[in-house]
Amino acid sequence: MSLGLPLAAASRPAAPQRSSCRDLTADDATAGWDLRGKLALVTGCNSGIGFETMRVLAKRGAHVLGAARTLQKAQTACSRVVGETTPLTVELTDFASMESAAGKVAALGRPLDMLICNAGVMSPPQRTLSHGVELQFAVNHLGHFFLVDRLLGQVTAAPDGRIVVLSSELHRRAPAQGIKFDDLAWEADDYDGFVAYAHSKLANVLFTRELSRRLAATNASANAVHPGVIKTNLVRHMPESVQAGDWDDRNVAQGATTSCYVAGDPSLRGVSGYYFTDCNAVEPSELALDDMAAKRLWSVSEELVAAASA
Ligand SMILES: NC(=O)c1ccc[n+]([C@@H]2O[C@H](COP(=O)([O-])OP(=O)(O)OC[C@H]3O[C@@H](n4cnc5c(N)ncnc54)[C@H](OP(=O)(O)O)[C@@H]3O)[C@@H](O)[C@H]2O)c1
Repeated sequence: MSLGLPLAAASRPAAPQRSSCRDLTADDATAGWDLRGKLALVTGCNSGIGFETMRVLAKRGAHVLGAARTLQKAQTACSRVVGETTPLTVELTDFASMESAAGKVAALGRPLDMLICNAGVMSPPQRTLSHGVELQFAVNHLGHFFLVDRLLGQVTAAPDGRIVVLSSELHRRAPAQGIKFDDLAWEADDYDGFVAYAHSKLANVLFTRELSRRLAATNASANAVHPGVIKTNLVRHMPESVQAGDWDDRNVAQGATTSCYVAGDPSLRGVSGYYFTDCNAVEPSELALDDMAAKRLWSVSEELVAAASA
């Protein structure tokens, strides 16, 4: 699989510094925006941050393609939103489902202005494999890698196409070696769902970094986001005592703010390759700045996709 994009570097604007949006809701941060005429796709639109992101972008006038694992979930979510939405089925472990969704997006015959890779799974209690790799790596990284590849032509056709990848501050808790290239199935080490989640979130930042490099000669950009710590269904696999705890630092309305800001704020045109939290670019972990690892992740992901599609 090749993106077929030139790798030449082009000058990119630096990410502007602004006041923290930590307490702002996505509604507040997008007040006054006019997204009419823009097309957006949000994965994981039926729950948590993804639903709120879809709701707010649609409220501001964008046509939002709401992607969920089943059509029924996508339809239900879209029906709860005011504005223009279209339900789509995207199961991130199922390449055929993503191929079919990409075909439907292509059939719209218009550029894709915002692609928000939001869906995610956290800490399933048992080690589970999908396409021979650990499930969180498969869903959180590999599925989005495939989906982005299939939709990239439409993103780069947009005047200011933006790809936003939901990572997490927990990417800093990935294994010390970084991406476990020699054991993506987690067979050699004791499986720890939490560390495997952190590993997949490190992959999200590295993917964004290499994607941004590959997009350098285009108008499109790619950035990673930490949305904050929010009580959502993401913690469904955690013990009840953890689920009931007081660990969140904001609500869902605030949790969608950085995603919406990075996807649509006019000040970020051309800004690419950053890791944002509270609407500001911050330094990710040292492992997440490793360009060799980012390139290797890209080629390994291509190989995994090719093997799964063979
Ligand atoms: N909440 C936080 O504190 C927090 C912090 C940092 C980063 N994040 C990131 O933010 C993103 C959104 O999380 P959230 O908190 O909103 O969680 P959530 O409410 O659990 O939403 C996750 C979404 O991902 C979907 N999903 C899970 N597995 C999938 C698969 N195999 N294929 C397609 N979709 C799948 C879920 O669908 P179903 O409902 O059908 O399972 C759901 O729509 C995730 O990437 C997460 O890692 C969240």
